[in-house]
Amino acid sequence: MVSLEPNPFRITISSPFLDQKPGTSGLRKSSKQFEQTNYLESFIEAILRILPGTQEGVLVLGGDGRYGNRRAIDVILRMAAAHGLRKVITTVDGILSTPAASHLIRTHKAIGGIILSASHNSGGPDGDFGVKVNGSNGGPASESLTNDIYLCTQKLEEYLIYPAQDISLRNIGKYSIGAMEVEIIDGVEDYILLMQKLFDFDRIKNFINRDFPIVFDALNAVTGPYAKRLFEGSLGAPEGTVRNGIPLEDFGGLHPDPNLTYAKELADLLLNGDLYSFGAACDGDGDRNMILGNGCFVNPSDSLAVLAANSHLVPGYAEGLLGVARSMPTSSAVDVVADELKISCFETPTGWKFFGNLLDSSQITLCGEESFGTGSSHVREKDGLWAVLFWLQIMAEKQCSVADLMKQHWSRFGRHYYSRHDYEAISQEKAFSLYETLESKLPSLAGEFFAGRLVSCADNFLYQDPVDGSITDRQGLRIVLDDGSRLVIRLSGTGTKGATLRLYLERYVSANGDLDQNPQEALSRLIREIDALAEISSRTGMNSPTVIT
Ligand code: G1P
Ligand code: ZN
Repeated sequence: MVSLEPNPFRITISSPFLDQKPGTSGLRKSSKQFEQTNYLESFIEAILRILPGTQEGVLVLGGDGRYGNRRAIDVILRMAAAHGLRKVITTVDGILSTPAASHLIRTHKAIGGIILSASHNSGGPDGDFGVKVNGSNGGPASESLTNDIYLCTQKLEEYLIYPAQDISLRNIGKYSIGAMEVEIIDGVEDYILLMQKLFDFDRIKNFINRDFPIVFDALNAVTGPYAKRLFEGSLGAPEGTVRNGIPLEDFGGLHPDPNLTYAKELADLLLNGDLYSFGAACDGDGDRNMILGNGCFVNPSDSLAVLAANSHLVPGYAEGLLGVARSMPTSSAVDVVADELKISCFETPTGWKFFGNLLDSSQITLCGEESFGTGSSHVREKDGLWAVLFWLQIMAEKQCSVADLMKQHWSRFGRHYYSRHDYEAISQEKAFSLYETLESKLPSLAGEFFAGRLVSCADNFLYQDPVDGSITDRQGLRIVLDDGSRLVIRLSGTGTKGATLRLYLERYVSANGDLDQNPQEALSRLIREIDALAEISSRTGMNSPTVIT
């Protein structure tokens, strides 16, 4: 039979593609690097060769709208057609948040998804771009899959791409490229429907429109359209509730990371102003969240504990939690709640992918990380807007302020004073040598005194997955003291400039102790003594961290 369609082109790759970090669920680099000839294409080729089920499979595709999103969608659609996929589902303007992508993968029984984002990194021609691969469960691709993708990139000689015109993504519709169908859907709708199943929108609506004004900052990134439809649409909040609500290619120059440094305007509104009772922000691709009350910042580790302690108030979780999980550097605040609820609490390495097995095997319902990430079994990614709705539902049921809720929580469970200090863009060499020197000191610390307490454990964290038994080692240096205080040091796996050293500090004060201290003061002795032990300021030449959370 003579095919009427043109055959896919085979493009020869002249130099091999070498720089994806093995074990990471995607590729995150500068936009400029992604513009190098055949760079994006090489990574996509490896994904399409390795992802199981591409022949006749369905793939979900979209991104956070940053510079490079549109071009990448065009390239991926044509390469997917050349690799024999049956269908790619993408969205109007290519806008798709990470949690919404996870939901679509699951509901459409897709083989996986490709999410275009560098998460909370800045965007634009001088910012970063990224390609993330998710598997058929809707979560970040497993370590073994990403390692196989990495190995494949090392020996690529050519890639396949279909010669076809760009498809306009302006409206919903169906198109074809060769034998493959391209369906453009509204990327927001399914997500809102999912939220309506989990939360009681009427109760939240009544509450926020009575005397609880809220504000949300989308930081000119992907959550704008979702938040407008949720807050200003379904929940009836006044227009203007959503700030920076249109996704821009360079995020309007903002750094879409919802923390006190990068979401400063919002933080000022809540911490120094009186207009709003509640404020929240999400990151570039919509999976992170920051929660603020009037005069009150909620530490993300505490946020996870509060969600767990109050989950019975939320319709989607009223039947109880199967268990909870947190990443190792996240404070133990949720552990105390899990103890009281008599449910298991798992401690995993940093990164959302480690929660996947626990969620898939129904061992946990809620999970979270200190890095402004909380989520549940409703998808397989952390979910920023879901966390905001969860908080609003709790507030609506309890009819109190965020600050009061935090006080009630601490006076019941005690308080885990917690802070993360980031030292960004230091040289790789300095960072590795600091880390290795500290690691070599750990064995002699056990049984000794540190910051006035006995060291009960000093090691490099090793995780054995309770579901598949796989072992992930060297996940961060930790020093645990006999009063439950902890110090953790690890190197970031997501930075794109030099190395980022993260220092995590935690100190527990029981319910009848002093619950009203400034966290930096409460942690000051630990801060001083870890600096002396790890020689952070002398080795980095930095007197203070770049970001303090
Ligand atoms: C950071 C966070 C981590 C999160 C990841 C992806 O990774 O610390 O919790 O899972 O971003 O959002 P890191 O740069 O520390 O390796
Ligand atoms: Zn993100």
